[in-house]
Amino acid sequence: MDQESQTVLVLGGDGYLGWSLGIAIAHRLGHKVVLVDKLIKRQWEKAVGIKLLVPLPRPSERITEYERIYRKSNLIFEKIDLLDPKATTHIIRKYRPSAIVNAAQQPSAPYSMMSAKNAAETFSNNMVSHLNTLWALAEVNKSILYIKLGSAGCYGGVNTDYIPLAKTDFRFEYGGRLRKVVQNWLPMQATDFYHQSKIADFLIDDLVADLWKLRVISVQQATIFGATVEENHPENHRGLVTRFNYDHVFSTVLNRFVCQAVIGHPITVYGEGNQRTGLMSLPDTVNSFFNLLNLDVGRGEHRVIHNYTHRLSIREIAEAVRKLRPKAAITYLKNPRRESESGLAKQIEVHPALQDAHNEKERKFMRELETMMAFAERYKDSIDPSLILPKVRWER
Ligand SMILES: NC(=O)c1ccc[n+]([C@@H]2O[C@H](COP(=O)([O-])OP(=O)(O)OC[C@H]3O[C@@H](n4cnc5c(N)ncnc54)[C@H](O)[C@@H]3O)[C@@H](O)[C@H]2O)c1
Repeated sequence: MDQESQTVLVLGGDGYLGWSLGIAIAHRLGHKVVLVDKLIKRQWEKAVGIKLLVPLPRPSERITEYERIYRKSNLIFEKIDLLDPKATTHIIRKYRPSAIVNAAQQPSAPYSMMSAKNAAETFSNNMVSHLNTLWALAEVNKSILYIKLGSAGCYGGVNTDYIPLAKTDFRFEYGGRLRKVVQNWLPMQATDFYHQSKIADFLIDDLVADLWKLRVISVQQATIFGATVEENHPENHRGLVTRFNYDHVFSTVLNRFVCQAVIGHPITVYGEGNQRTGLMSLPDTVNSFFNLLNLDVGRGEHRVIHNYTHRLSIREIAEAVRKLRPKAAITYLKNPRRESESGLAKQIEVHPALQDAHNEKERKFMRELETMMAFAERYKDSIDPSLILPKVRWER
């Protein structure tokens, strides 16, 4: 996608990543950005009884603030339920975007493990909204670039020493003979229903890219950390704030640890903390999507991106937080999840388009952590520590 003014649809545009991406693409690239969302996450948050670190203004309020600060009117909000196939096709036909970023899903593993209803809702919401978008793309314009948020958690239950970027030949011995699986993806296995829904999405992407000759990028995204991007970082831009969950259901690990550290509560590590997770800061993630918008993807191609900069154990993450708050204690809780502590060190292939994010990553990691800590510090009086401790268990 060249730098001329384009239209980009960001599905999940009221979300943590979608909003951050939307304001950055609109402001820095100057494209028209249509934020599409049904605001369902706000309902899920109410239903499970959690609250955000900073109250989230309505989309219209955030857009008015964007227009006031940047004197641009290239950010639009559309309230659409992607479970409605007609509405999904309509919105793509209406704006004729050159690219669609799909960041609209139920994104929490604990939410998906709360009940049969939650597991089914996670699968139906995530898969049906994704399918509707793909059918709409095939109907309206197959040359629209489709960038789908997947998850690094698709490999969470796979014990491997190598995760390739592309289809690979696998050779193995079975029954005394050498067997082959030719040009296939590394088998994926998750450790919860949310990530399992991402695997289903991935395989659907692979099917339709080939079948309908779509242009698809699956982003196997690692845990994102950080509270701000360039656009909403200055103190007087706080009307552009993005969602910051710190609770046990919707928050990622660093948000919880940072909030515990700033209120002087022990950092609660699940299990012994040896399980590893991929990480990438919010600014790096947003910048990487700028590169993906420019990636040359042909019709019928399915590209895969492993979007991460760091791979740390939970204990190492807790130690990193303690470097900035040396008085913080670390406690170890019985792990409510079933997480694999893979015996093999995973080597994960990085796409050249993502190489920028890996430059100077250690320095950038601590700097982003400091920024996040300062952000949480400012709102620490509103932190309710009881929302952080885990209540959802994987076992039945
Ligand atoms: N945040 C992370 O660390 C992380 C890591 C890996 C992958 N991801 C993926 O990135 C994407 C964005 O995650 P996030 O953290 O911004 O989540 P988020 O919950 O903050 O945002 C998701 C948004 O999608 C909307 N949405 C959900 N279902 C919808 C539907 N049927 N129709 C319309 N809108 C709908 C929600 O209302 C919400 O605003 C998700 O696909 C998530 O799985 C996130």
